Amino acid sequence: MCKYSPVGILDSGVGGISVLKHIRKILPSENIIYFADKENAPYGTKKTDEIIKLTDQSIDFLTDFRCKAIVIACNTATSAAADILRRKYKLPIIGLEPALKPAVKKYPSGKILLLATPATVSLPKLRRLVNGLNKNDVVCIAAPKLVEFIEHGQIYSREMVDYLKILFAEYKSLKFDACVLGCTHFPFAKKAITEALGYQPEFFDGGLGAARHLFCILDNRNLLNPDGQSGYMVWNNRYENDLVRRLMNINI
Ligand code: DGL
Repeated sequence: MCKYSPVGILDSGVGGISVLKHIRKILPSENIIYFADKENAPYGTKKTDEIIKLTDQSIDFLTDFRCKAIVIACNTATSAAADILRRKYKLPIIGLEPALKPAVKKYPSGKILLLATPATVSLPKLRRLVNGLNKNDVVCIAAPKLVEFIEHGQIYSREMVDYLKILFAEYKSLKFDACVLGCTHFPFAKKAITEALGYQPEFFDGGLGAARHLFCILDNRNLLNPDGQSGYMVWNNRYENDLVRRLMNINI
């Protein structure tokens, strides 16, 4: 492993592209191997043991490329497996955390909506994060179908908006100041979320924080790629209909 070794990025599917975009901006010279575990997606409706096993397999796959660091570009896999797998692997593992802290910092007395997968919503990691902030006005909603829509190439549709409207119906009387996107697929669904709410909250996601964290980890270990050229990107697992290219081109 050396400065020129790639960074491995994993997600259950294309959601990690929302993190990859920040990594490309902050660390343009880094070589990237992206693994989308699309055969096993979605992760968010699976049991914790299964998510740990799948994340372990994905990291194991990426270590064959002699990656110098791994980014688990998936909130679900991070919540279920990051702590356990950090003990198993020697290389740095960077995870994703819902950007609740910056949202609360900006809106200390505001109302905050957090959208994530069922696994992320029910795992103790999120509970601890919410309780640690000592804030009552955080509403956590699981939106698993949103992952499926995006995996199937639907970034915006009437069906998505209707699905979200049903999820939000109970909270119609609340006006959320911020919406924390606690699943890496969700930054691609901002338009549908905004339309379903009927107004635009400020969106927060953890992608930028993870990219900055990766920068610090590589810098501290003297592992930043010194090459002035833009790094290569290898994509594992094929997607149809140019989905990867489409998502790479969306401004989030
Ligand atoms: N993109 C993932 C996340 O951030 C997981 C989606 C899924 O596979 O359910 O949680």
